[in-house]
Parts: sequence; C-alpha cells; structure tokens
Amino acid sequence: MRVNDVIEGDCIQVLGKMPDERVDLLFADPPFNIGYEYDVYDDRRGKKDYLAWADKWLAEAVRVLKPDGSLFLAIGDEFVAEHKVKLDALGLTMRNWIIWHYTFGVSCTKKFNRSHAHILYYVRDARNYKFFPDEVRVPSARMTTYADRRANPVGKLPDDTWVLRPQESDEHFQPEADTWYLPRVCGTFKERTGHPCQMPEAVLERIIRVATKEKDLVLDPFAGSGTTLAVAKKLGRNYLGIELSEQYADGIRKRLQMIEFGDPTSSAEKNGMATKKHTRHKRKTRAEMS
Ligand SMILES: C[S@@+](CC[C@H](N)C(=O)[O-])C[C@H]1O[C@@H](n2cnc3c(N)ncnc32)[C@H](O)[C@@H]1O
Repeated sequence: MRVNDVIEGDCIQVLGKMPDERVDLLFADPPFNIGYEYDVYDDRRGKKDYLAWADKWLAEAVRVLKPDGSLFLAIGDEFVAEHKVKLDALGLTMRNWIIWHYTFGVSCTKKFNRSHAHILYYVRDARNYKFFPDEVRVPSARMTTYADRRANPVGKLPDDTWVLRPQESDEHFQPEADTWYLPRVCGTFKERTGHPCQMPEAVLERIIRVATKEKDLVLDPFAGSGTTLAVAKKLGRNYLGIELSEQYADGIRKRLQMIEFGDPTSSAEKNGMATKKHTRHKRKTRAEMS
C-alpha cells in the first residue's frame, strides 16, 4: 500500500482498494454541502444524495481503521446529527463531540452568527484505543490563575470546546479556560496555501499527537490543502491523503516537498495573531456560507 503520498481521485474508490484495518487515525473534513465553491467538487447536492454518499465513504473509512484506530470528523451544523447517527450505526464509540469555536463569518441579520464547527471523535473499540494525554496537556486554571498547590504540575487535558477567536481580548479567553487560543488560517498567514477551506495546523497537531505515535499511519480522505499530511510529516507519522482535485493534489505535493520531519507546526504567534488584526477574504469561507 502506498504511504507518505497523496492520491488523486475519489476517496470511495481509492479507499475501496485499500486493505482492511491499516489506518491508526483517520481525519475527515468532507465538504459540508453548503454550496461552497471548490474547483471540481459540486457542494450543492440534494440532501438524499449527499447523505447516501456519506454512507459510502464512512463505511470505507471505518473498514480501513485498525481495531484500535480513531476517527475524527469535522462537520457543520447542517449534517452533524446525521453523521453521528451513521457513525454509531457503524459500530464506533464516540469519545467526544468537540465544538471548535471561532468567529470569522459574515454577520447574520435574521439569525445568530455562526461561530463553531463540530469535530466528532470516535474510536473503533472503547476498551482498546490509543490516547496519549501527555502529548496535549494545557496549563490548568489552578496553575495559572489561582496559584493552587493542588494543581497537577503537568497540567490538564484540554476541554472539548476548542476556542479559536483571534479577535477576542486575552482577558476574556485565557488559554487555561478555553484550551486553545488560535486563529483560523487568515489570508495573510504564512501557513495559508490558497485552498479555500484550509484547517489550521494546530488543530491537526492536537488530534495527531493525542491519537498516534511516530510511524503510525494517518489518513485523510478529503486532503484539501494537505494540512493533515503536512502535520503528520512534521510529527514523523506515516500519512496518506486522497484528493479529488488535480489542482489541490498538486498543491499538496508542493506543500509536502517544502517540509521535513521535525519542522514546527504553524503557531498563532508566528502567524501574527497577537496583532488582533482582521483580514477579509476575497472569497467566502465555509463559515460564511450560511
Ligand atoms: C473541506 S475540504 C478539506 C480541507 C482540508 N481539511 C484542509 O485543511 O485543507 C474538502 C476537500 O475534499 C475534496 N473532495 C470532495 N469530494 C471528494 C472525494 N469524493 N474524494 C476525495 N476528495 C474529495 C475537495 O476537493 C476539497 O478539497
């Protein structure tokens, strides 16, 4: 089986050719079916068609997971409930329903502004799965705020709400309270590749660190700009991406060529988050589509 590469093609077909139970961690960030403009994929499908398609790729995704493997699925409000029901039906066990809180959409006028995405964290076997808490600990409020001697000196596990609100003040969003204080990938960031739905490397770093060890295989069936693969490479994991678009797949290859094992992931500081400056996108982000 090919590894440390991106395969251009339809993930259902590509996954269909993979042997059972090979993947340690599968991260999927599929199109949300909200009319987003990708170069090849049509993100305006009928509901029935979109959900029937989800049944197919989810079944393949679960089949290729190792018995102790983990699956993280990023998905929007519109179809998160259906995806949860499908993953339950496929026999996986949910460990967390993570809310990734951000604000970077356009302001709504007749409803509340959207400020979150969902990341469903599932495992195949709740009694036997990889979870490395020491890889992702954060300082607790006991340590940073209350100088409490009872604090665990190695910190605490992050909460299941991940906050990425670059425009909020530090006073409101302390790292120990909200675990992450990171921006989305704004247009000016060095990390930005040009793909319309690029995830921040920090999101993938946390997921990959907590669920895998070096040399494990990380698979992303909707590779997009290649964030998952890039972070996996930096962290010394084996990786495999599948991407429908030739142009995006080319972009991923170029991105991967420029990085090496041991390179740091892009952090908020390096991206200039501390400036709290807003940058408007020429194109709408997925968060702006509703
Ligand atoms: C939301 S984006 C993924 C973004 C990615 N997480 C990142 O950080 O760059 C979804 C991607 O899935 C791709 N895609 C859509 N249908 C696909 C399919 N059947 N097989 C493989 N890739 C597909 C799209 O071209 C798009 O690049």
